[in-house]
Amino acid sequence: MDDNMMVCECYDIRVKDIKKAIADGNDTFEKMERCMRLGILCGACIKSAKAVIAELKKD
Ligand code: FES
Repeated sequence: MDDNMMVCECYDIRVKDIKKAIADGNDTFEKMERCMRLGILCGACIKSAKAVIAELKKD
């Protein structure tokens, strides 16, 4: 997965930011919602963001 792939356009959150959040222990969508505001503005990214998180946690 490309590190620079956009996950949440509203807050400019990319795959590399999701990887960092997982490494820091913020490893669920709900935790990322709180720590980096993932998905809380328009909500359009929620479904794909959850899929990205699930995919990255497989590694
Ligand atoms: S794209 Fe993520 S909240 Fe809008």
